Amino acid sequence: MQKLLVSLGERSYTIQIGSGTLSSLGELCSELALGSTAAIVTNSTIGKFYSQAVQASLGNAGYITHLIEIPDGEAHKNSVTLNRIYDALLDAGLGRDSFLVALGGGVVGDITGFAAATFLRGIPFVQVPTTLLAQVDSSVGGKTGINHALGKNLIGSFYQPSMVLIDTETLTTLPDREYLSGLAEVLKYGIVCDRDFFVFLENNVENLRKRDLTCLKEVIRISCSRKASVVERDEKEGGYRAVLNFGHTYAHAIERLTNYTSFLHGEAVAIGMVQAAKLSELKGYADRHDTALIINLLKSLGLPVDLVPFPVDQYYQALLKDKKMRSQGINFVFNKGIGDSVIENVSDWDFLLQVVRGEV
Ligand code: NAD
Ligand code: GLY
Repeated sequence: MQKLLVSLGERSYTIQIGSGTLSSLGELCSELALGSTAAIVTNSTIGKFYSQAVQASLGNAGYITHLIEIPDGEAHKNSVTLNRIYDALLDAGLGRDSFLVALGGGVVGDITGFAAATFLRGIPFVQVPTTLLAQVDSSVGGKTGINHALGKNLIGSFYQPSMVLIDTETLTTLPDREYLSGLAEVLKYGIVCDRDFFVFLENNVENLRKRDLTCLKEVIRISCSRKASVVERDEKEGGYRAVLNFGHTYAHAIERLTNYTSFLHGEAVAIGMVQAAKLSELKGYADRHDTALIINLLKSLGLPVDLVPFPVDQYYQALLKDKKMRSQGINFVFNKGIGDSVIENVSDWDFLLQVVRGEV
């Protein structure tokens, strides 16, 4: 098992990465002296594959366990489901000597983390991410929360887990599109902060396409280590952490324009990263060759790269709603070549919309 540290003073924790690690969960929780009762939050899709192994591991380590199944899907990352989790925790009589286990993708991780942050004014929780996106991104860094009718992730808190336990074998049951969607966020690290990693990914396209678990373990390790470095530098997104939003300005616009039905988040991010790369080229931060490398890698992995055709004005309206918008404009992340990035507040809408007009 590989072990990484997210160094945040008294909120520090480890990320444990390996194959077949679910069976070690109980023992690792004992080492952390986490309470006496564990509530595992999952959904039925994931639960049918993995909840037994997780319950057995915790049980073998002497924990009393409760299983809470929430409905599957982003549409359920809301206050109704959150209240169901609180109800189940109260019904089971959980006290401050208990902890939560988030067994699932980003939806389960975000809502369980927020439940842990708020139940009895905060109890510990452990992330056991089962999608690639959750293993390389959402389980690390402590962003927890739910959606509101007025927008995604509007209610939440920064609340770090006590541990992240990644079992690469869980990726074998992940549907293809979900897997590819996670790969888009993997590429993002290469583009914004690690040129060597980008080259590693270019050299491992075949391994990535066939989900080679040895290659994936390395990909997850490097991604988590890059994410940890960003979070250690700027835990609460005062500034630098926003580099992780590379490609997300246009991704959010595309998701909004297609009513969140046509694209998975990572697919929209793939398209958004191409638009960001083109704008970075226009700014002189990158050249045509960098953009071509990004497009080639995305395409060779099977990710989409073309902007969805909507009128310029609709893109303008969708960009206006971006949550990163400040009074003057949008905090836009540009790539500087490959492996570096810069965040700039952009209020020149004509500049941003050039990619929609096909002028670049
Ligand atoms: P998800 O949690 O909806 O999971 C995708 C689908 O895969 C679901 O149907 C799920 O049931 C299924 N699934 C999960 N693991 C599986 C497995 N091993 N085998 C088979 N099926 C499996 O989606 P996601 O992409 O993991 O996460 C998206 C969420 O993450 C969004 O809500 C987003 O806002 C959030 N997010 C949070 C952060 C953060 O920093 N907290 C970062 C990025 C994204
Ligand atoms: N995925 C963005 C962040 O964690 O900040």
